[in-house]
Amino acid sequence: MAMRLPVRQLALTTRTWAAAASPSTRRFTSTASNLSDAAKKTINRDAELPNPDPGADSPSAALVSEHAPYMVATYARPPPVFVQGEGSWLWDVENRKYLDFTAGIAVTSLGHSDAEFTRLLTQQAKTLIHASNLYYNPWTGALSKLLVEKTLSSGGMHNASRVFVCNSGSEANEAAIKFARKTGKVVDPSGGKVEVVSFGNAFHGRTMGALSATHNPKYQKPFAPMVPGFVQGVYNDVAGIKDLVTERTCGVIVEPIQGEGGVMAASEEFLVALAKRCREVGAVLIYDEIQCGMGRTGSLWAHGSLPRDAHPDIITTAKALGNGFPIGAVVVNDFVSDKIKVGDHGTTFGGNPLACRLAHYLVERLSDPALQRGVLEKSKLFQDGFAKLKERFPELVTEVRGRGLILGLQLTEDPSAIVKAARERGLLVITAGTNTLRFVPSLVVTDEEIAQGLQILEDAIAATR
Ligand SMILES: Cc1ncc(COP(=O)(O)O)c(C=O)c1O
Repeated sequence: MAMRLPVRQLALTTRTWAAAASPSTRRFTSTASNLSDAAKKTINRDAELPNPDPGADSPSAALVSEHAPYMVATYARPPPVFVQGEGSWLWDVENRKYLDFTAGIAVTSLGHSDAEFTRLLTQQAKTLIHASNLYYNPWTGALSKLLVEKTLSSGGMHNASRVFVCNSGSEANEAAIKFARKTGKVVDPSGGKVEVVSFGNAFHGRTMGALSATHNPKYQKPFAPMVPGFVQGVYNDVAGIKDLVTERTCGVIVEPIQGEGGVMAASEEFLVALAKRCREVGAVLIYDEIQCGMGRTGSLWAHGSLPRDAHPDIITTAKALGNGFPIGAVVVNDFVSDKIKVGDHGTTFGGNPLACRLAHYLVERLSDPALQRGVLEKSKLFQDGFAKLKERFPELVTEVRGRGLILGLQLTEDPSAIVKAARERGLLVITAGTNTLRFVPSLVVTDEEIAQGLQILEDAIAATR
């Protein structure tokens, strides 16, 4: 286990909160003797709850009220302020401990503060962080080579050949869309092959290109008009593919498992038919594996179990590729890379040696067969637990969806009250789609932690009935 840093270093720099607890004093329930009077008062609000949300008079609330006025309000956040993480656990300013089944939205797949990750980060930061894409460095190329090799050996995209490295999921999709447009221009120099197809319920990111492929009025309407040439299809509608993907189509982007959309998996029949149609019309097929990829389904890529015919021309990845350090990548085949010339695309930060050194380590770890077997075993524990919840709360839980450690529990009501009740009992979960509870924990979550989290979830649901 990594040596823990003083837990509230950040908070203590601006104000003297309650004395910092030593790591050994931390337990699942709060160590009340370490807390300020305000924090004690907050905790006494409800003795039944290990982690009642910090109240208006708490150190957390004081910190938020000091900082929030300076932050553009793009998120509605619950009251706890997180200052430290280790494995599947997070601690807040008031030293409350939370079991994290969100992993920073499918990002910290190796858990918080992985010891080797931290060591490499420190070592590379002392060596070279950035020199720009104008020059070679050892790690952009090493990461690209490893991603291609691991993709080929994993049973995914059989003709993966090159990689473009960037900084986030949206940027990876942005690059993929540009690569598809450029391919369309080369395949059909008339300029008529420019349409990009994506699907209802998809989420591809917030930049204008990625947003234009995210046909959800909630995200698009405030920023209309969208980029021209984006067409929406129906996910899993095999019959609709022929009219949707035409000679005008330069690219099709699809999530093999929709994450934000509510943990919905594409059927094999759909992806096979989609790939076949893309080949017929010379369109680039893009699998957005930003959320579902990188070992989360028990193989490196969620599409890894598909027949070769259904393999994509491009895979986009981000999130777990950096375990929290910002990075994205676009894996392409020769059909695509042949069309991209020097100067077509670029990035200042993308591919910097620090991010690539870390991602190199993550690709090694997340493609480890033992880790991936573990994902499938842990998935079974979750699924068994969810089946019991469905049995106990049949009016609430209607369906369990997903694979590996990207799982969704479909509810008949808004899960907000359950999310809050779980948080106040020490469990972090997030939602997706319409009334879906989403589970994307670290891939190294332990069996005991799963059992503990499922028990908290059951108690939280019971408390909201
Ligand atoms: C499938 C998918 N694509 C793209 C993105 C956008 O990634 P980022 O937030 O890193 O820009 C996300 C983020 O949630 C995602 O889940």
